[in-house]
Amino acid sequence: MVDIAIEKYGAHIRKMWPLAEGFLTVNHGAYGAAPNVVLAEQDRWRRLLEKQPTYFMQRILPDALEQSRRRLAAFVGADDANLVFVDNATTGVNAVLNSLSLQPTDVIATTQYAYGAVRKALDFHASRSGGSFQLIKTPFPLRAGVNLAESIVACLAADTRLLVVDHITSPTALELPIESIVRGCRDRGIPVLVDGAHAPAHIDVDLESLSADWYVGNCHKWLMAPKGSAFLWTHPSKQALTHPTTISHGYREGYLAEFAWTGTRDPTPFLCVPAAIDFHFELGGERLRDRNKALAWEAATLIAEAFDTEVGVDKEHACAMVTVRLPVSPSQITAADLRSGLLDLGTDAPVFQHGEALWLRISSQAYNDRDDYRMLERLIHKALGDAGVRG
Ligand SMILES: Cc1ncc(COP(=O)(O)O)c(C=O)c1O
Repeated sequence: MVDIAIEKYGAHIRKMWPLAEGFLTVNHGAYGAAPNVVLAEQDRWRRLLEKQPTYFMQRILPDALEQSRRRLAAFVGADDANLVFVDNATTGVNAVLNSLSLQPTDVIATTQYAYGAVRKALDFHASRSGGSFQLIKTPFPLRAGVNLAESIVACLAADTRLLVVDHITSPTALELPIESIVRGCRDRGIPVLVDGAHAPAHIDVDLESLSADWYVGNCHKWLMAPKGSAFLWTHPSKQALTHPTTISHGYREGYLAEFAWTGTRDPTPFLCVPAAIDFHFELGGERLRDRNKALAWEAATLIAEAFDTEVGVDKEHACAMVTVRLPVSPSQITAADLRSGLLDLGTDAPVFQHGEALWLRISSQAYNDRDDYRMLERLIHKALGDAGVRG
C-alpha cells in the first residue's frame, strides 16, 4: 500500500517549483514542470557558456555532454553506446522515419493510441515515399483481460517496415505491454520504434532488456529536465542507418558523433539531465513513481464517483496519468470549449472526444495532493455550469 499523504509531497513541497500559486496544475503530462533546482543549474550552465562561447563549446561542452549522456543512459538501463540526445520525442521519431528511406511498397504502422503529431509524421513520410500508413484499431476504455500485444502484432503484414507504438499513450493515458509487443514483432522480424515520450521517470524503463529497434523518450516531461531534452536509443544493428534529420559536422563519423552536433543550439537542457536525475532520487525515485501512480488512480476514481461515470483504464494498464469520462456529451459542449473554460478558471486538463463521450486526463506529480483533485472536480462543475451545460 503506497502512502499518498506523506508529508514529503503535495502542497508541502510545491515551492520547489516556480508554479503559479493561483493556478491548479494537474496536467504534468503535457509539458512537465522543471523545479527551481534544475532551472538554477540551467542558469549556471548558460552563464558559463556565454562567458566565453568558443572556450565553452570546444573545451567544456564535449566532456560535460558525455557525462550527462552516460548518466542518462544508466538511468534508463541503456548501454551508453546506444543512446544519443535529441531535442524532443518528435525530433527522435522524425530522425528514425527519415533514416528508413521508405519505398512506394512500404507500409509503416501505428495504433489509434498514437500521439497526433507522431501520426502526422508517419502520414508525411508514407505519403512522400508513395508508401502507406496503417492505423491499427485499438480499444478504449481499456479493460482487464484484453491481449493487446497479440491483437496489435496480429494486425501487421509480414513485410511491415516499421511499427511505431507508445509505451504510455498520450490522450488515453495507458501503459501498454511494450515488452510483449516488442517480442511479438521481433519474432516476426518487424522493426519497432517505441514512443516513450512519457515513460522516463514515470515508470521503470530498461532499454537494453527491452531491446526494441529504436526508443525515444523525453527528459522534459516526467524527469523534469528543462524543455528541449530527450533521447533516442538505437539498437546496435540499426545504428549505421540511423541519422539525425539535420546533417552536420558528425556525418560519416558514426552514430554518436552525428547526433552530438546538429548545429549551434543551446545545449543546457541536456547538461541539466544529471541535476534532474538527482532531484528525482531526492524525491524518492521508485517510491515517488509508485506514489504518483497511486494518487492518479485515487484521484480519477474520486472524480468518476462524483460524476457517476468511469475511469478509462484497468489497474494493470494505469500509470500516473488516468482518464475519467465526463458526465456530458460532445453535443452539449466540445472538448476544446470545455478545456478552454477550465483554463479560464485557472486549471488545465486535456479533454478529448471518444465516440459520443468526453474524457478528461489527469496527471499526478510530486507537487500534487488529494486536495488538487477535489478542487478540479469543483472547477469542472463550474466550467460546465458557466457554459450552460448540466452534467
Ligand atoms: C506519446 C507522445 N509522443 C510524442 C510526444 C511529443 O513530445 P515532444 O513534443 O516533446 O516532441 C508527446 C507529447 O506529449 C506524446 O505524448
